Amino acid sequence: MVRIVAAGALVLMAGAALAQDEAKRGADHYARHCAACHGVRMRDPEGAYDLRKFPQDAQERFVNAVTRGKSSMAPFGGLLTAEEISALWAYVVSGGK
Ligand code: HEC
Repeated sequence: MVRIVAAGALVLMAGAALAQDEAKRGADHYARHCAACHGVRMRDPEGAYDLRKFPQDAQERFVNAVTRGKSSMAPFGGLLTAEEISALWAYVVSGGK
């Protein structure tokens, strides 16, 4: 029993580590492609959307906006792979720490 619980904890920890890795990659993409408008580490976005306030249950809306663009924001679908956009989402959900 103890062994099963320990194995479960390991799996959970591995999952958390993977999510952290993804957010870290997302932070790199963010710095390169998004920070100019949305602010360094999502702080001080000035005119652009404050991504720290983006609803955390709206991944599809996020992916659509980034892929196809939204009003004055250009589309990034030709520039970023689906995997990179999903790393960006992990970063946004992490709150940019
Ligand atoms: C040239 C400036 C600029 C860049 C670069 C930019 N954005 Fe934006 N973004 C904006 C503006 C302006 C808005 C507000 C659009 C509107 O009027 O709804 C916005 C809106 C958004 C929204 C909200 C869309 C919604 O559903 O309301 C998301 C999400 C977003 N940007 C993500 C990103 C990500 C991720 C990147 C980097 C890949 C990025 N943006 C790069 C200017 C930019």
